[in-house]
Amino acid sequence: MRPLKILFVAAEMAPLVKVGGLGDVVGALPAALAARGHDARVLLPAYDPVMTRKARVITLLPDGSGRLLEYRASTVPVPVWLLETAGFLRRGGRPYLTRAGTPWADDPLQFGRLGRTAADIASGRLVDAWQPDVLHANDWHTGLAPVWMHLENSAAASVFTVHNLGYIGRFAADILSRLGLPPSMNHPEALEFYGDIAYMKGGLAFADQVTTVSPRYAAEIQTPAFGSGLDGLVRARSDRLTGILNGIDLEAWNPATDPALENHFDAVRPDGKQDERDRLLHGLGLDPVTDPQTPVLAWVGRLTAQKGADLLVEALPGLMERSVRLVVLGSGDRETEQTLVRAARSRPGLLAVHPTFDEALAHRIYAGADMLLLPSRFEPCGLTQMYAMRYGTIPLVTPVGGLADTVVDSGDAAPQEAKACGFHLARPSVSALLEGVDRAVGTFRQPDRWRTLVRNAMIRRFDWDSSAAAYERVYQSALRDKPAPDRPDMPRRRSRRRHRATLGSR
Ligand code: ADP
Ligand code: GLC
Repeated sequence: MRPLKILFVAAEMAPLVKVGGLGDVVGALPAALAARGHDARVLLPAYDPVMTRKARVITLLPDGSGRLLEYRASTVPVPVWLLETAGFLRRGGRPYLTRAGTPWADDPLQFGRLGRTAADIASGRLVDAWQPDVLHANDWHTGLAPVWMHLENSAAASVFTVHNLGYIGRFAADILSRLGLPPSMNHPEALEFYGDIAYMKGGLAFADQVTTVSPRYAAEIQTPAFGSGLDGLVRARSDRLTGILNGIDLEAWNPATDPALENHFDAVRPDGKQDERDRLLHGLGLDPVTDPQTPVLAWVGRLTAQKGADLLVEALPGLMERSVRLVVLGSGDRETEQTLVRAARSRPGLLAVHPTFDEALAHRIYAGADMLLLPSRFEPCGLTQMYAMRYGTIPLVTPVGGLADTVVDSGDAAPQEAKACGFHLARPSVSALLEGVDRAVGTFRQPDRWRTLVRNAMIRRFDWDSSAAAYERVYQSALRDKPAPDRPDMPRRRSRRRHRATLGSR
């Protein structure tokens, strides 16, 4: 296909700012598209003055609320445009939550500006020298960009990716007038959501194409159980919805070269994993494992209900009765953090808990653990199970969303036949988690079967290139869906009529 100019807009981009998988995706997908010949760039808020120190000013925002800067460096794979406003800068590197753990009060205004700025770049109003063919917005933080583009008949096509429908950006409706959006947007077919406004609806209802981060999640979000109250809208737009599995950055996450590790390994030479396991236990003050039947279990992830962190807490006594070591790296719900830290104090040598964000430790855990626990209630894609598999750590997952799409259960069949690479938990519950652990430990105690499982996991390839090719096809559809210049709103009318029909039947 012809090379495109693509502007990504998102709230995170690794390594500049990362809270979860969104950061990893925005750090890698634009680079994968650039490698395929496209001119991809990223628009990102500057949450800290440090981020703009080495950036050059491109322009001032027309309303005087801030500046747009460009940052290029060897640490970022594509040019990054930074939106600098006083409100974002004040966040001191914390994109979403204050030090007290509450959302920033000016979220609707700041992320509203982010959407506006993205749309202004897309329309060519803000920057003369570069105008994208496609604006690719991500999650609710950027949901207003397709709204502005729709209202202003932007020449660029819009694509919106849902990374997590659990967060919809719900705010009081008075934000519309503060942002200069017309009152018509306060309507069930536009942004209105039970008397408020949901930014996520902007992307879902107005983007030319919508994607989400796994095929299974694309189906799930069309059901009430996973739809966060927006499943009717998602169904209405299902003809424009594609599920594209995330990839992982195979260079940044490579156990054969990872600078966070002292002992390197891969599927052909797996021995270093054993040494990393010893190093991990020693480094975290856990008792060394002398009995080969004792596995090291791990948790790496946000401590939220989505991930089943409450199930982990409830399962702790049961887990600790078994002959295992458990390592927990995760921050999130404060009460859960404190409960886990207290539990670790009462189980010295067996349980280590780090309620922080620590990138290097995450790498060491994927390398040194035997099993990763993922009892998620929903999981749009999930990257941790893919990192774990590449590092020879077997994931135990509830088969939802991307976990179902990436982890093949060891089942009853011999792992070498089944290409098995993990264990499915029957449901997100304490008993299913413990049953899953028992099943996995049973296999762990059969070294030949376990080795096969580990090898199967390590040779799976979740690369970005095939996902980038799938996004290219979506961009093409989005460009095709654009209204013809002489009949500006024809296709939109058709799609909105369909949308109305389905909403009416809800
Ligand atoms: P989500 O985006 O829902 O949090 P993902 O599995 O997509 O889940 O991505 C999580 C990313 O964040 C992974 O890169 C994981 O290694 C990382 N991560 C999560 N918690 C921590 C933590 N406490 N310290 C370091 N990395 C973490
Ligand atoms: C979200 C989801 C996660 C997904 C990530 C990147 O944070 O919770 O499942 O992997 O976005 O798309």
